[in-house]
Parts: sequence; C-alpha cells; structure tokens
Amino acid sequence: MTPLRQTGRAGLEFLGSLQSYASRGLRAKARDEFYATPEMAELGDEPLGPRPTDEMRSLIARARDVAERSHHWRYERFYQRFVAENVYERGIPATEDQREPIEQMLTVLAEGANEKALTLDPDLREPGYFEQVEWHLMPGGWDGYDLSGPMFMLGIGPMIFSRGGYAAVAPGEDIAEQRRQVVAELQPGPYRRILDVGCGGISTIAVLRSAFPEAEITGIDLSANTLRFAHLMAEKLGLNVHLKQADLTHTKEPDNHYDAVTAYAVFHEMDDPSAARAVAELFRVLAPGGSLLISDPGPARGCTPWEAVLYDWETENREEPWFTDAMLRDLPELLDRAGFVEIREYPLGTGAYPWIIRACKPGAA
Ligand SMILES: C[S@@+](CC[C@H](N)C(=O)[O-])C[C@H]1O[C@@H](n2cnc3c(N)ncnc32)[C@H](O)[C@@H]1O
Repeated sequence: MTPLRQTGRAGLEFLGSLQSYASRGLRAKARDEFYATPEMAELGDEPLGPRPTDEMRSLIARARDVAERSHHWRYERFYQRFVAENVYERGIPATEDQREPIEQMLTVLAEGANEKALTLDPDLREPGYFEQVEWHLMPGGWDGYDLSGPMFMLGIGPMIFSRGGYAAVAPGEDIAEQRRQVVAELQPGPYRRILDVGCGGISTIAVLRSAFPEAEITGIDLSANTLRFAHLMAEKLGLNVHLKQADLTHTKEPDNHYDAVTAYAVFHEMDDPSAARAVAELFRVLAPGGSLLISDPGPARGCTPWEAVLYDWETENREEPWFTDAMLRDLPELLDRAGFVEIREYPLGTGAYPWIIRACKPGAA
C-alpha cells in the first residue's frame, strides 16, 4: 500500500524514538528509585497476590504516590502522554497528505473483495461504557477517523507500536509476536468454528488463520470503521474470514455454536457489568467442550507493585476508563459462576502481560 510521505514518517519516527528513550532509560531509573524507598522495598518486586478490593485500591494509590516522588517517573510519564497525544496530531495529517492514493488503493481492494464476508449493523447501539470514549486519546474514538486503519498500518503500527514500551507492553517487546504466543496457548484443536470477539483489525485473526487453516473463523467488533478496513485487508491476504459488527455482550450468534472463542485485549475496555454479561454470552455461544482463551494485561494480584502503577496510569492518562477496574476484577471467578470449568490463569512472559485465562465449557467436544 502507498507509503506515507517522508515528512509524515519522520514525525512518527521521532515519536517512536521518544517513547523508546522514555520507556527504556527513564523508566529503568524511575523503577530503581521506586524500589529503593522503604515502603516499596518492604513490599518487594513480587506479585501482589489476592487481596480485598479496597486494600488493593489503597495499595495501588500508595505505590502511585511513591512513584510520583521520582522526577525520572514524572518525565517518563510526561513523554508517554506527549507521544500518546501526538501520534494522532501527527498521524492524521501524515495520512491526510496521502488521502488520494490511499482512497484509490481502498477502491481497488474493494473491487476484488467478497462483500458477503463483511456484515455491518447500522442499527447497532454502542454499549454505555463505550460511548464517547476517545480510546487511547484517539480523536472521536475507534470510529473517529475514517482512515484510521491505513494510519495504523502505515505509520503508528510500524513506527510506534512495534517498539513496545507503551501501556502494558514492555520496552522492546513486539505486540505482533505476543499475539502469536497468545494464540499458541489455545488447545491444539481441531476446531471447526472459532469466534474472535473484539477483533479490531486483522492482527489476531491473521494469527488464528495461520494456526488453524481449516477452521471457519468469525470476528466481531463494535467499530464499523475498523471492520471495513479489516475486511479489505483480510480479503487481500486471502484469510477467508467473516467479520461482523456486533456487541460481544449480545452477539446474536446461535447457542452452542463455536468450538473456540478468543478475546485479545478486549476485557480491559469493558466496565464490570459488561464484563459479566460478556462472560455469560461467551458461555452461551460456545459448544459443549469448547475452549475459551482470554488475554489482557494481568490483574492487580498478578502484578508487582511497579506494574500495578504502570497499568493504573492508563486509566486517567491514556483514555482507558476501565483499566483499573479490569485490574481489580476477578475474571476467573466470573467464569466459574457462568459455568466454565478447567479455569487456569497465568502470565506468559516475565511480567503480568500478556496474561492468559483459559477455560472450557463442560461437555464432550
Ligand atoms: C484494544 S482493541 C483490540 C483489538 C484486537 N483484539 C487486537 O488483537 O488488536 C479492543 C477492541 O475491542 C472492541 N470492543 C470493545 N467492546 C466491545 C464489545 N462490547 N463488542 C465488540 N467489540 C468490542 C473495540 O471496538 C476494539 O476494536
């Protein structure tokens, strides 16, 4: 696809470098200072473990206060916020600069695409927790900019996200590789039908397709804008998937239909009542014996004090209104109450992200 012009790319490359500098150099110093304080030295660099919610909230608040004392932390967070705002300040003009060739390319892609592989629902109402949120500070939220797909693919993805160092993704870690590791945690199958909820673009769907070449794969998401571009890319890559605009808390999919359901980086976007509804809905659409795989930033009990401060920061500062609620949520308990069995949770790497939760619907596959 048409690349961004050099001036547009340069702005984004600069932001990527700034984020790397902040998240590697400054953050490492801030972390050392954090654990050098008597309060945090006593807690140690260990997962916080299960605690009552009020205690956990006040512990996180205390750890945040300790972090705030470090000027390295304050600078590092200033740069994080600066980059988070400026990816759009720079990314949108850089994409606009190439609007004409990008639109031509989209037209060509649309001509060869199977229209039946995309189902939009113009009557879909966004759930309350989702409305008006400018996720990650993106102006207008996921549907706010019509060329957001090309902007991420051509600029923000390769120049900023691929370097890690933002949100729960550790510096130097590549979120694309993490998706492959996460999907590898799904039982080997075979699966006839897989549903990926909150699929966004095709990043996770493409990994599912290569891991399960024979499966019928469906992705659902609320964002029509994201799905339109995902559809064109899926068709171009021959992924043979069906994308639908739907609310994962009320999918309208048949009962007992899917052999596996995946949810990557979705539950932290949901408030508590919606997360509970989602769990019940995913149970309903899974076939007996079917597998559920959820991956998200880890819960507070799996985080070290330092990780808890990093994740909690997202809530107030990078337009992630439910991030801290999600950290405090007991998703395995919700799964248990919904009827799931064989529930397991564990981190994949050295920190609390990616965090895996696996479960099964009882019955013979
Ligand atoms: C952080 S993105 C992750 C996207 C994708 N899973 C990936 O691997 O990149 C979260 C996605 O969840 C979607 N989402 C949030 N709540 C949803 C809901 N109730 N139903 C369907 N999609 C939802 C958002 O529109 C967004 O595309």
